[in-house]
Parts: sequence; structure tokens; C-alpha cells
Amino acid sequence: MSRQHLTPLFTGVRQHAEKQPIQFHIPGHKQGAGMDPEFRQFIGENALAIDLINIAPLDDLHHPNGIIKEAQELAAEAFGADFTFFSVQGTSGAIMTMIMAVCGPGDKIIVPRNVHKSIMSAIIFSGATPIFIHPEIDENLGISHGITVNSVEKAIHAHPDAKGLLVINPTYFGISGNLKQIVEIAHSYQIPVLVDEAHGVHIHFHPDLPLSAMQAGADMAATSVHKLGGSMTQSSILNVKEGLVSPKRVQAIISMLTTTSTSYLLLSSLDTARMQLATKGEALLEEAIRLANDARKEINNIHGLTCVGKDILGTRATYDMDPTKLIISVRQLGISGHEVELWLRKNYSIEVELSDLYNILCIITLGDTKEKINKLVDALRQLASEKEIQPNRDHKPVSVPDIPTLSLSPRDAFYADTEIVPFSKSAGRIIAEFIMVYPPGIPILIPGEIITTDNLQYITENLSNGLPVQGPEDESFNTLRVIKEHKAIQ
Ligand SMILES: Cc1ncc(COP(=O)(O)O)c(C=O)c1O
Repeated sequence: MSRQHLTPLFTGVRQHAEKQPIQFHIPGHKQGAGMDPEFRQFIGENALAIDLINIAPLDDLHHPNGIIKEAQELAAEAFGADFTFFSVQGTSGAIMTMIMAVCGPGDKIIVPRNVHKSIMSAIIFSGATPIFIHPEIDENLGISHGITVNSVEKAIHAHPDAKGLLVINPTYFGISGNLKQIVEIAHSYQIPVLVDEAHGVHIHFHPDLPLSAMQAGADMAATSVHKLGGSMTQSSILNVKEGLVSPKRVQAIISMLTTTSTSYLLLSSLDTARMQLATKGEALLEEAIRLANDARKEINNIHGLTCVGKDILGTRATYDMDPTKLIISVRQLGISGHEVELWLRKNYSIEVELSDLYNILCIITLGDTKEKINKLVDALRQLASEKEIQPNRDHKPVSVPDIPTLSLSPRDAFYADTEIVPFSKSAGRIIAEFIMVYPPGIPILIPGEIITTDNLQYITENLSNGLPVQGPEDESFNTLRVIKEHKAIQ
């Protein structure tokens, strides 16, 4: 009989707290008694009673052999993994663990160019050399999708000695590539596939959602349970399939990257979220998908707004999509997604997940109701009626800069001596900082790359088109930080 209804970690922590032990250990607030009363009252006694530490009855995330081990084993079973590791350092911690588990100094790792900053941090920590693949750009929406089977084939063919392939699946916008085929290609070269599944914890639990990393046969997946799976912010998991990666090494590395004071609130919430997903996830997701599809239909009936659905599928990079993500294009209203975000906040107290030049992104989850979604649709209807529709609004094409030559590893660039030079005189120098344009969120330059006049032109063009170029210390772009050159002593 399935044991997925059990919550060994939460139950163990709760029963311990209910015994009201006399505590002579940290945390020193002692179930809230030593805490500011206003805060204590606000967050509640129960939360404080289980804010505990790794005393023997509660197991230890660093060497699990009790209730944490049991909870991790149940999670592995639920996610189809061989091993699951709980992370209290978010998905960022799980991503850094994945990369550091397969890469050492000088090793190559194939990654899409539009990666989350935790991936670049791990590349700097490990000393690995990134081999970048351009993600596909959606000219219509002005966003980037994932990488294609074709580009993975080319990258692996050119770098068969890579120690890993990292894939973002699904993307922030809920689009996924043909992960199964990508995994098959990588595995034919014995290259492990590491999946950034920050936006896909739920996809494993409903047949109408894209294939999860574990279903596609990937070796590791860093999965944000806290984003879409019902656990508390900061709690994530790292799923591992044994074979090309060593679970023992993964355990050692995640432990190196993790606080010794792990939060039992976060850990317990992972245990209960897994139980909920495994036992009721399909039914709850069925409802979320229905709500999202109804909302999509209503939004598409509003003049001036579009909300893409399955019609986006069929290109090289759009193999499947998660319908619970509402990508609402506001281009025809003649205002930016960012302006819509501000308008919704001011007029309706509605907060969106993200906005960019052309879109807002709203996510529908296990926690939504028809009433809340009606409010969003009403607000969007009101917004559209106030704005003048501009059907042929000039849409600046999203171009992609050439990938510059990497002359130093990002790690060497990070630790090198640096200096500030005028932006206009920086061509030929090695950049020491990140510069990216968002959307589509692809770095133009990463530390260690040689700046070209093309890059500088691209940055200037984007800035003059009003696109948000981000990254450097000097936000005015008058100067850039580069690696110091040492002149010969005469
Ligand atoms: C694609 C992607 N990967 C990784 C992360 C990191 O997740 P976390 O915030 O849990 O560390 C995020 C966070 O937004 C993300 O969008």
C-alpha cells in the first residue's frame, strides 16, 4: 500500500513540540517566549513551536537517518527519483549542488545563455568553463524559450568531453522543449543532464502537463517546491537518478552549501507539500488547469489583449506548454507590461508574477479560486477599455548579440584585479561584470569575455530603444569594470 499519505517529518516535529519539552538549546527564543511579543503574536505560536533545531529526535539534514531520511525517501518515490535531497537554500542551492557535483576546475558544462544567476555562481565556484547555447527567441512575444534538440546535438558534437548539460525546463513562461530527446542525445555521450526545474514542480503530477525531468530520464533536477508546489518560500528539492552522477557526492556537496541551522518549518513544509502533491495533486491541478484555461479564453475575448495557449506549440523550441502560466501580451494597448503591472497594483491591488516590455505573466496554482481570477479578468477588461488600441504598433524585433569569446574562465575573471574604464574605450578589454538585456534575459557579456564593438553597439542600441539593460555597477553605462592590464616595466 502506498505510504504517500504519511508525513514522517512534519508529524515527528509536531509530536515533539506537543510534548512541550523544556528546551536548553537554540533557538534562544524558546518557542517564542524570548521574542518580541508583537512579532510572536503576528506569526503565531504553532509556527514558533516547530522552529526547532537538529536535536537527535528530529534527525539532521546533513546526516539524515531518521524522520528526514524517511521524508526524503517518500519524496524520491513521489517524484520518480532514486534519491531526493531537501534544500533550505532554495532552488539556487540545489542548482549549485548539481553543477558542483559534476564539474571541477576547467571542466566544460553546456548551458543555455539565458541562465539564472545561481548557475553562473556555481560556474564561478566550481571553476568550470561554460559552453553556451543560444535559446530560441520568440519574436512575437519578445521572450526566450529553451534550447532545441538541434542545438544540443551541435553543442555535444563539438564538445563531447563536456561534464554536464544544463537545461531549463520548463521556462519561467511555462514552455518546454523535447526534454526526453535531449536526454537521449546527452546520454549517448554519457553526459549527465541537469535540469533547472524551478518552474515545474507540479508538472510531474498531472498527465496534461509537460514531462518532468525525472519522467524524461534526466540525471538531476533542482525543483522549486516553494514556487508552485505548496511549500514555504526557500524550500526546494534536488532529485537524483543514480548512474552518471554519484548520490554520495551530491549529499556531500549540498551539505557543504547548506547552513547547519536548517529550518524545521521549511523542512516540514516540504514533507506536507509532497504528501499533498502525491495524494491530491492530480485533482488540484485539474482544477488549476481548468481555471487557467477559462481565464485564457476570457482574456482573449478582451480587445487588445492576447493570452497564448497551445497555439504556441510546434516550433523547434516549443514542444509542450504548461497552461497554468498566463502569458498576457499587452503590446496592442500601446503600453509596456511593466506599466500594466503598476496599473494593476495601483488600481486593483493585484500583483503579477512578472512583467516585461510586452507581457505580464500571471500564474494560476493550487491556491487559486474563480473569484480571484474573475478580479484579474475584470481589471484587465477595465484597463483595455481605458487604453487606445494600436493594432499595428511598431514592435521592435528582438535581436540576439553574437556570443563573445571567453578569454578567462568566469572564475578567473571574478578573482582578477579589475579597473574601471570608459564605456566607449572598453572594446578589446575583458569584462569583469555581467551585462544583460531583459527581455529576453540573455547575458550580452559575462565575466571573462572579450568586449567587442558589436557588443557595445548592441548595448547602446538597446538603451536608446528604451530596453532595460542591466548588470553593471555603473547603471548609467558611462563606465565598465574590466580586468586590469599590467603593463611591462620599462
Ligand atoms: C529559472 C530559475 N532558476 C532558478 C531559480 C532560483 O530559485 P530559488 O529562488 O528557489 O533559489 C529561479 C528563481 O526565480 C528561476 O527563475
